[in-house]
Amino acid sequence: MDLGLTGKVAIITGATQGIGQATAMKLAGEGARVVICARGRERLDDVVAKLRATGAEAIGVQADVGQAADCERLVAEAVSAFGGVDILVNNAGTAQVGAFESVTDETWQADLDLKLFAAVRLCRLAIPSMRARGGGRIVNVTNIGAKQPAARTMPTTVSRAAGQAMSKALSKELAPDGILVNTVCIGLVRAGQHDARAARQGVDAEALYEDMGRTVPLGRVGRADEAADVIAFLVSERASFVTGSSINIDGGASAVF
Ligand SMILES: NC(=O)c1ccc[n+]([C@@H]2O[C@H](COP(=O)([O-])OP(=O)(O)OC[C@H]3O[C@@H](n4cnc5c(N)ncnc54)[C@H](OP(=O)(O)O)[C@@H]3O)[C@@H](O)[C@H]2O)c1
Repeated sequence: MDLGLTGKVAIITGATQGIGQATAMKLAGEGARVVICARGRERLDDVVAKLRATGAEAIGVQADVGQAADCERLVAEAVSAFGGVDILVNNAGTAQVGAFESVTDETWQADLDLKLFAAVRLCRLAIPSMRARGGGRIVNVTNIGAKQPAARTMPTTVSRAAGQAMSKALSKELAPDGILVNTVCIGLVRAGQHDARAARQGVDAEALYEDMGRTVPLGRVGRADEAADVIAFLVSERASFVTGSSINIDGGASAVF
């Protein structure tokens, strides 16, 4: 199936590890020109080199998407390098959970800045270019807790629920412009954040993944490339009648659709 991504310009945030990196590799493999970002310079350079080694056109922008000025610079550099933006994947994020009374205002604000305001700002910045190019695709990466918030899962589940609502409303607002907006809800997927947790706890990452997989109906955690395949479809020409949708990528873990 030809995804129709050749020459499209795609911004993928948080793309030096996990789902973001897998998505960047996938889109580049489909012929897209990719702009990736992360805070850490070294990994950014490594992943850009990896992308270019495949023959893809790629640039890396060191940016903290929780900062408004960095969001502006990210989109400006994409436009300057490749002439516009067709695809935006708001992927950067990490788990931030605790007992409600222990979560400070600062933690709430930082989580909302990273998971909600980054998507709000980057969409606002990219939409004019997408509109001028006759349409576009936005995928906002959230988690399954957005639809079924459990105890001790704030602020993440609240930030993610807000992201779901924003995406749904935006899909209706942008449909006349041919800009399609969808979300994916991630369950448990192998990624940098879990590797880092295993290292912090001094446990073997494979043992941690095996343990996590026991809670998943399919009996294992997912791979980043499995999430990337779904995202690649959603940003493709083949998903031309899909907007305002939210797809669980969770091996059946969520109790709701
Ligand atoms: N993996 C899962 O099981 C899981 C579950 C539910 C939801 N999700 C969601 O899926 C998305 C991808 O997660 P992942 O697990 O694949 O991530 P990951 O492997 O931990 O990688 C996170 C990426 O985001 C970048 N990043 C983090 N904060 C950033 C910031 N403020 N600005 C720019 N880049 C930033 C990191 O690079 P730097 O640190 O260098 O910035 C890294 O490239 C996230 O939104 C996450 O919340 C994942």
